[in-house]
Amino acid sequence: MTKVKKAFFCKNCGYESAKWLGCCPSCGEWNTFVEEIVSKPATSALGINNYNSKAQLINDIDVSHESRLNLNSVEINRILGGGLVCGSMVLVGGEPGIGKSTLSLQIALKCPDIKTLYVSGEESAQQIKIRAARLGSNDAQCYILSETLLETIVIQAKELKPDILVIDSIQTLYTERIDSSAGSISQIRDCAMQLLKFAKETNTPVFVIGHITKDGTIAGPKVLEHIVDVVLQFEGDNSHAYRILRATKNRFGSTAEIGIFEMQNNGLREIENPSEILISQHNDLSFSGVAIAATMDGVRPLFIETQSLVSTAAYGVPQRSTTGIDVRRLNMLLAVLEKRAGFRLATKDVFFNITGGLRISDTAADMAIVSSILSSNFDVSIPTNSCFCAEVGLTGELRPVPHINQRIGEAARLNFKKIFISRYSKLEDKPPANIEVISVAKIEELMKILFGKN
Ligand code: TYD
Ligand code: MG
Repeated sequence: MTKVKKAFFCKNCGYESAKWLGCCPSCGEWNTFVEEIVSKPATSALGINNYNSKAQLINDIDVSHESRLNLNSVEINRILGGGLVCGSMVLVGGEPGIGKSTLSLQIALKCPDIKTLYVSGEESAQQIKIRAARLGSNDAQCYILSETLLETIVIQAKELKPDILVIDSIQTLYTERIDSSAGSISQIRDCAMQLLKFAKETNTPVFVIGHITKDGTIAGPKVLEHIVDVVLQFEGDNSHAYRILRATKNRFGSTAEIGIFEMQNNGLREIENPSEILISQHNDLSFSGVAIAATMDGVRPLFIETQSLVSTAAYGVPQRSTTGIDVRRLNMLLAVLEKRAGFRLATKDVFFNITGGLRISDTAADMAIVSSILSSNFDVSIPTNSCFCAEVGLTGELRPVPHINQRIGEAARLNFKKIFISRYSKLEDKPPANIEVISVAKIEELMKILFGKN
């Protein structure tokens, strides 16, 4: 009888230990060790023929055959750094229900000349067919396999020789080599290693879907991040239609790229000009309390509409409520307004909202937030052809933000007539002729220009 070998694993980072530990020496988390059965130690991913590999001079290494598959989607190709690299492993992470299965099935269906094998451990072939019908499938070469045993999947994949292998999801897979249950850390790690070996041996790209809960406690995807080449994070709010796909790790491209999608009843639609839909189109009407911010997400300019409502506080304690920004940031800006602009806080309720359900962390939105609050307070609207981009410092000065030229260029492209920036911004190129750039140094100055108040 073979002896059962057991080991302890950290649920958070996957650290392996022979004995139980209270605190993980690798990630410092407490009470995260669980015992798991490992009948065989996991072999190295590329363990075959490792003894006869030779060192090569860097200049002699041939990269001419690094081929990329065109996925027939502008957004996804760009996030991947210009297409899917053959033999790479891509992890798509995100909360349940965000649209990971939809996205990967859509990739498989939208490329008629690429043969894909879509393996689902969660849904039956019929369910996937129903979803595909919803997505408007054409005659794509997409094969479906509803299976959870990894060995069967690899045999099927080797037989079928697909151009792309999709695994939905890694948590449902199990391998016969390890006795613990599907979804456990040792299973996830060993399955990922075997898939990586398959990817490198056959030069087939593999898409792996992984679930993450809100607080990121499920260990699987975190352990996987070290193994895979690309990690794509699918973010967004279930209650809103907009979803952001972001590369948090990419061995073949930039991690500053994002893609924006909208969930519709026939699948995910790419949004090439997010600013155009995030800004309400009410050119002839203007409302008080609205200002447009020229923010950036990664390397992509994103113009958003900030809305404020300032009203007299009905109760003793004024209310502060925000959606889309940190409430502490709003409090800080209100404190600056009180000190520098004589804005009486104690008697006002302030409600703040960013339209479209987006969350913004770019401090370049500060000037727009402040302007929208002032606009609502004075009940004077800001012309809809103006936009703002500067950070507000604690002394009330307007500070420069990075990528100013790119923001001005995008503002001109979106037909804004005026952009307010910090006086201390350094413009590398001359701004386009069809936009007026207004440099402002302090909040008092901004108030004077916008509302004629001192
Ligand atoms: P799904 O891709 O199954 O999420 P995940 O695999 O990340 O758990 O689906 C996400 C949600 O999207 C689901 O609640 C249903 C909705 N949906 C649409 O709104 N339109 C569609 O065309 C599809 C296929 C799904
Ligand atoms: Mg799913």
